[in-house]
Amino acid sequence: MRLLVTGGAGFIGSNFIHYWLKNHPSDQIINFDNLTYAGNLENLESVKNSQNYTFTKGDIANAKEVRYAIKNVDVVVNFAAESHVDRSILDPAPFILTNVVGTQILLDVAKEAGVRRFHHVSTDEVYGSLDLNSKEKFREDSPYRPNSPYAASKAASDHLVRAYHATYGFPITVTNCSNNFGPYQFPEKLISLAITNLLEGKKVPVYGDGLYVRDWLYVKDHCAAIDLVLQKGKVGATYCIGVDSAIENIEVVKKILKILDQSPDKIEYVKDRPGHDRRYAIDAAKITKELGWQPKYNFDDALKLTVDWYRKNKSWWQKLKNKQFGKYYQEQYHRR
Ligand code: NAD
Ligand code: DAU
Repeated sequence: MRLLVTGGAGFIGSNFIHYWLKNHPSDQIINFDNLTYAGNLENLESVKNSQNYTFTKGDIANAKEVRYAIKNVDVVVNFAAESHVDRSILDPAPFILTNVVGTQILLDVAKEAGVRRFHHVSTDEVYGSLDLNSKEKFREDSPYRPNSPYAASKAASDHLVRAYHATYGFPITVTNCSNNFGPYQFPEKLISLAITNLLEGKKVPVYGDGLYVRDWLYVKDHCAAIDLVLQKGKVGATYCIGVDSAIENIEVVKKILKILDQSPDKIEYVKDRPGHDRRYAIDAAKITKELGWQPKYNFDDALKLTVDWYRKNKSWWQKLKNKQFGKYYQEQYHRR
């Protein structure tokens, strides 16, 4: 099988490529990525010379570039996106261009090329926010109520993917998953930022009261879930992926402080994110019952593995916390 993995130089995409090459060694992977600030070919250094892996630099919003890369491809797995909520609040435009227009162009070219399956990787953020006091969880039939420009752009992309199935019979699947963490995550998201800030002797910024709740999924469990959806998922279907490990942000940060043997005075409460979703939780019953997916990692063990990875791979993330990142950090964390 020949797969076109878009956004394969990013966090989840590169973990997926490592996972796929290990578990499906006879398949061919084309990594198609335009290398934004979040795309990093160092993530794939160990496989770059593999016979069944190639990289093509290109933009999913550029039909000509996609057409060139998609020749003889059986399956498209679309990870390519602008992915950080805070950046979408500072500047929504690139989110619309890649996540909405890019997805539509990718769909058109993939349809024209006659691919057997188009898998779209999406997020639980499209469902909006849950009340802290409720027991409600997001399911495949939950209403779409995106609150950030990022979530709204992902919601639009999901609708397009679904519409291409309904209108053209295009063979799609969609997954909506919870917050990922693990190796190769750009050091802008809560867990990767907290670990790297602490390793640099800096404080960890915690938004608002720190009592926001997320459902943390180890990236390797996510990759295994996508594999199952590609092998056994029903064409046209959506699957929610999550692990039922709801934790307050402040507790996540305290666990990281404990692993790194650092003191709570490294916590710095900062101005809240506008439109901040209070709680996310996923009911993963469908993918469990229909496809037999089960997460293999528990949160505490996977967090230790992740902290260890960042400790051992300082040169990987230190380069990313460069001048450009400093500019973003200043704008994001020192606004008044
Ligand atoms: P990321 O920001 O780490 O990586 C995104 C990758 O896409 C980068 O390599 C970037 O260069 C590439 N890219 C961006 N615009 C592109 C374009 N126009 N053409 C080609 N490539 C482009 O993101 P991630 O965290 O790995 O997320 C991957 C996907 O999973 C996204 O679609 C995201 O919405 C979704 N998702 C992420 C999470 C999470 O917790 N990180 C959770 C749920 C869903
Ligand atoms: O739920 C899935 C989504 O998870 C993905 O679709 C997104 O691509 C991904 O970025 C992530 O979105 P979040 O906004 O939930 O992740 P983030 O790591 O940015 O924030 C997690 C929580 O931590 C959230 O409540 C905001 C808070 N936070 C975040 C940062 C970066 C802080 O308190 N301080 C911070 O500095």
